[in-house]
Amino acid sequence: MIAKIQQLLEEVERLQATGPEAVEALRIKYLSKKGAINELMADFRNVPAEMKREVGVKLNELKTKAQEKIAALKEAVETNDAGTGDMDLSRTAYPVTPGTRHPLTIVRNEIVDIFSRLGFSMAEGPEVEDDWHVYSSMNFADDHPARDMQDTFFVEAHPDIILRSHTSSVQARVMESNQPPIRVICPGRVYRNEAISARAHCFFHQVEGLYIDKNVSFTDLKQVLLLFAQEMFGTGTRIRLRPSYFPFTEPSAEMDISCNICGGEGCSFCKHTGWVEILGCGMVDPAVLEANGIDSSVYTGYAFGMGIERITNLKYQVKDLRMFSENDMRFLKEFESAN
Ligand code: DAH
Repeated sequence: MIAKIQQLLEEVERLQATGPEAVEALRIKYLSKKGAINELMADFRNVPAEMKREVGVKLNELKTKAQEKIAALKEAVETNDAGTGDMDLSRTAYPVTPGTRHPLTIVRNEIVDIFSRLGFSMAEGPEVEDDWHVYSSMNFADDHPARDMQDTFFVEAHPDIILRSHTSSVQARVMESNQPPIRVICPGRVYRNEAISARAHCFFHQVEGLYIDKNVSFTDLKQVLLLFAQEMFGTGTRIRLRPSYFPFTEPSAEMDISCNICGGEGCSFCKHTGWVEILGCGMVDPAVLEANGIDSSVYTGYAFGMGIERITNLKYQVKDLRMFSENDMRFLKEFESAN
């Protein structure tokens, strides 16, 4: 009897039906008064007492399975049936409206592409980071204002776990697990606790660059950045470096490019100076190399970091940062040809 039930179980499992009549026929065959399962139920009387429990359980299993399966088939043919009326089987599958790449993705890819042609490979790190990778390993003093609540999002209950506020944290991740030569480009999303407006958002995107080897100099940095600016904004683009300060680089600089909107003539975008700032950079501070396990008496390096939104604004003159995250199709469609 067990074997018979098992066989029926397998049979029920495989049942198929193409229409309501077929489902009804199956119901009669298995579940009606004279159906196969009821027949077995009638035979149950003759099962020896010591087998009753085992057979009973199995028989119940079969009955439930059959009920479920037939109910599922019934539902399937009914919904199918309702659908066919509205379905136009002669309709072609095309045209499918393709999506478009997001402008920030387009620009990110372009930046990565330019640097990969210069021999940089890509590295990524987590957005939820610890204080060490975002700040301490990057030579931020304990009381540096960037650690402040106004800037950093903390993960509640874990004051050491934060949303990274810059992609410089990926520098630390790369250095701790690689020895020079290191030449990486690290794109990613960053978070800052800012009020959202046309000019600021609580999240945005950056690309970090890091190059460490023997005899890397500031001249190498300047040359690479000039090449990048000209690839990105056109061969006529000029750059200028202004001394600046970052905890993780010494010396540090900010780089401006000749305003590519007015060509350096002066306009409202460049505040009539002819120049716009696009990135921060400098020579990796020896303290950062040491903190991350690299011998600063042997190696030197440069680093730079830029905002992807800023570069995108310059290329496409997007006036309001919020447009990047609103998913307005009219805005996104404008970048169709840039894909
Ligand atoms: N982390 C800086 C920021 O978020 C950008 C930056 C500046 C990165 C200089 C660098 C650098 O690697 O050398 O504002």
